[in-house]
Amino acid sequence: MLQEKNVNIKRKRTVIFIFIVIIYLLYYCLLDKDKFAKSYIMKKDKIVVKAPATIANVSCGFDILGLAIEQPFDLVSINKNTLSKLAIKSIEPNFLDLPVDINKNTASVAVRALLETLGSSQGFDISIVKGVPACGGMGSSAASAAAAVFAANELLGKPFSSMDLIPFAMEGEKVAAGSAHADNVAPSIVGGMTLIRSYDPLDIIMLSNNLDLFCVVVHPNIQVKTKDARDVLPTSVPFSTLVKQSGNIASLVHGITKGDLNIIGSSMHDAIVEPVRASLIPGFSDVKQAAMNSGAIGCSISGSGPSVFAFSSDLITSERISKSMQGMFKSLKITSTAYISKVNNLGCEIVS
Ligand code: HSE
Repeated sequence: MLQEKNVNIKRKRTVIFIFIVIIYLLYYCLLDKDKFAKSYIMKKDKIVVKAPATIANVSCGFDILGLAIEQPFDLVSINKNTLSKLAIKSIEPNFLDLPVDINKNTASVAVRALLETLGSSQGFDISIVKGVPACGGMGSSAASAAAAVFAANELLGKPFSSMDLIPFAMEGEKVAAGSAHADNVAPSIVGGMTLIRSYDPLDIIMLSNNLDLFCVVVHPNIQVKTKDARDVLPTSVPFSTLVKQSGNIASLVHGITKGDLNIIGSSMHDAIVEPVRASLIPGFSDVKQAAMNSGAIGCSISGSGPSVFAFSSDLITSERISKSMQGMFKSLKITSTAYISKVNNLGCEIVS
């Protein structure tokens, strides 16, 4: 009798114990998802992150406007190592002439800036699969820096928010282009359309992360280095040009926040940068005209070029625009690659 009572008490205790464990796990996994994800990621020592290509300037917003797009993108894989050193293990495709020197590669420079701020001696092995063409004006250097810094931050337990990662990725831009502009790295990390209100102090505003827009980017098979494209820029502009440009930028920002494609289209006029950079892209004005004749709501140089982008409201029009832009380059015996995609509203994403 006494024995039976003891067995019952033991059973009850076991049931209560199991019940407490289940409640604890439910709380930990479901209610406190962030804590769970954080501890899981911190235990990981390898992560793969995808970072989107970007259209910087978006016509009249030189150095201050940037937009992330779905296609193409870079994949960066990062492993913790025990050597307290950074290393670029591989860059694919391997015919690309990109630096593996950690002082020159945008990904390692960005990760080093993050580690220095944290005072961390953690080492990482970095492998990069390039989807964004180098020297194409689609934020290639920025995408690798963005993905690398996002991945390192995750493996370190997320000490920084996504917005806080932007200055580290800008260090990567400094080595690649000679200037720490943020209009590619910001949208690549946080997605959508971003505005850099100020560089000193750095102040970045998310203008829209629900922009419903089709983007056509045609990359002609020529290279224009960002540094060269910056060297042709004017050092001053007439006051009347400044007034014209300001009106278009303000109106473009208004159109973007409203999601109004007519206002966006009517504001896409760049009176300062596009006219001087057009000379670096053979056939630019004809390609732009072809895009507009095919129904684009606006068209301009993507970042520092040579890629040319156009916005449109739907896929069928985008395909027509893309075909006519590529046809115009072809008539000049320039081969090109076209990307049609929607806006990427997420920015960097963990793939595995
Ligand atoms: N805003 C920069 C420029 C972007 O136009 O030089 C470079 O991709």
